[in-house]
Amino acid sequence: MSEKDTLFQHQSGDPGSFRFDERVVDVFPDMIDRSVPGYSLIVPMIGQLSRRFAQPGTVVHDLGASLGAVTLVMRRALADRDVRIVATDTSPAMVARFRELLADADANGDPGAPVDVVEGDIRNTDFTNSSLAVLNFTLQFVPVEERGELLARAAAGLCDGGALVLSEKIRFEDEGEQERQTDWHHDYKRLHGYSELEIARKRAALERVLLPETRDEHERRLLDAGFSRVTRWFQCFGFCSFLAEK
Ligand SMILES: C[S@@+](CC[C@H](N)C(=O)[O-])C[C@H]1O[C@@H](n2cnc3c(N)ncnc32)[C@H](O)[C@@H]1O
Repeated sequence: MSEKDTLFQHQSGDPGSFRFDERVVDVFPDMIDRSVPGYSLIVPMIGQLSRRFAQPGTVVHDLGASLGAVTLVMRRALADRDVRIVATDTSPAMVARFRELLADADANGDPGAPVDVVEGDIRNTDFTNSSLAVLNFTLQFVPVEERGELLARAAAGLCDGGALVLSEKIRFEDEGEQERQTDWHHDYKRLHGYSELEIARKRAALERVLLPETRDEHERRLLDAGFSRVTRWFQCFGFCSFLAEK
């Protein structure tokens, strides 16, 4: 069970200080649920989408898997599909906890597709023979100038009919809209129990760590990377998810 996220009640929000370390791992499910409007809908919907795109005999990637919310949903959804899921994350703390959760699922006899949990950087992932790749709020942490190459390698490794799910916090070109959408997002956080101080500290801590881009920038980059069609299938305030088909 996830602890309640009270991290920024005690921790100062030094600009750019946010890390996916042990303290974040302890509260992560609560933190992401109370911070990302729509997260609790996006995750099961990726499970649904996975059944449409994952092909027998291929690999399905969960890139920046954290505690494996998406992997655990896809594992169940693809139990009968003869796929292997590779879940990669660069944070040792996330990977260690995720392995424990997966062992619990196995011990409980939960049926599912086999999963390899990899501690590593998704910029080094081998996408050969994959049919689906998921970046659920991960690309926003990769340096902007390296995003195109990563997506192009993912597109090249996908088999025909394959797809990539990209969920991101986006920014808005129009300043007025950026302000309104930010206000509405902060209302969501207030409604879910975060104080003004916690909101301000977390925002500062994520400065220059989470780098949002516009919807246009994401859609264009996906097309440039080799995808033939991009559909924005979810948006709530500045939180979007795209489906890019090869
Ligand atoms: C917001 S979390 C992702 C949430 C997760 N996908 C989910 O649906 O619950 C971002 C994750 O990406 C990981 N990450 C960031 N940059 C990475 C990289 N270059 N390679 C691998 N993992 C990365 C972080 O360690 C963190 O666990």
